[in-house]
Amino acid sequence: MLTDDFGREVTGVRVSLTDRCNFDCVYCHNEGLGDTRGPMDPRENEMSADDVVRFLEVAAEFGVDAVKFTGGEPMLRQDLEEIIARTPDSMEVSLTTNGTFLPGRAEALLEAGLERVNVSQDALDREAFAAVTQSGAYDRVLEGVDAALEAGLDPVKLNMVVFEKTAGYVPGMVEHVAENDGLQLQLIEYMPELTGKPEWAIDIQRVHDWLAERADEIQHREMHDRKRYWIGGPKGEGGMVEIVDPVENPTFCANCHRVRVTHEGYLKGCLNRNDDLKSMGEMTKPEIREAFREVVANRVPYYGEYMVRNGDGEWEINDEYVDTYADVDA
Ligand code: 5AD
Repeated sequence: MLTDDFGREVTGVRVSLTDRCNFDCVYCHNEGLGDTRGPMDPRENEMSADDVVRFLEVAAEFGVDAVKFTGGEPMLRQDLEEIIARTPDSMEVSLTTNGTFLPGRAEALLEAGLERVNVSQDALDREAFAAVTQSGAYDRVLEGVDAALEAGLDPVKLNMVVFEKTAGYVPGMVEHVAENDGLQLQLIEYMPELTGKPEWAIDIQRVHDWLAERADEIQHREMHDRKRYWIGGPKGEGGMVEIVDPVENPTFCANCHRVRVTHEGYLKGCLNRNDDLKSMGEMTKPEIREAFREVVANRVPYYGEYMVRNGDGEWEINDEYVDTYADVDA
């Protein structure tokens, strides 16, 4: 197991397989790269299945035991089933998708070795969904969730980004997962860092308070510092709602155990940083091992270390990292 200078073991990797997407969600940070989306056709800059598998085999050697495939929309990759099938057996495989391609493909994914799926669903309301995702695929997403459940990929986690345009739909989504077996809800605090729209942020504490009032049981998970609320019944019976609130949250960063890989095959130690990217390009396994070690060694908690509070209580870049930052800006 590799551990960084802040005692954080790296146990998981999040691999983007493409930055292509058939949606255009207004809040999207595109895995920390901002708006890099291009046309929908397969693109040459994407890692090949061989590239992905080579990296995963190295990660598995270091004891990484979980991989989440993401995008863009990872199901635009026609070789996704192949990649999952070739993922080392020691790794738990999950997928984050917009759900539109799950009908007709969920079973094949399960057979390939997929264990869990997150489907982005920002509102249980056709118009709001269309406004946020800039797509008309609402029914298709609901069919996708059903297809995943029918294939046996339960529980399905619904990802909802909570911000100005969706906050009013939280109660409806909470009720939806409380009433339907096999569904869980992950309320993700809107991260304004990479989207240029800070005014869309809402106070996530209000959502915590609202849920705490209604919950039959509350669980506090140390990992990621996440709180889980059980609604409409106790743990295991009611609907599970989890809040992911990383913004300006040093405890969240202190519990981050994940390294990312961009669709172009760059190792990335932190979602919010783009000054620590390391290309795996044409690397051999020994070179990837070395690169992985280096990226882990350079990892620092974003809030609390890379960003620190100044005398006025505002977050600003730690002087220690200002030089690195200036290099990238130049
Ligand atoms: N803030 C919070 N979550 C986001 N996601 C994408 N952009 C943002 C953002 N700005 C989440 C969505 C999607 C997942 C891949 O990333 O929930 O499901």
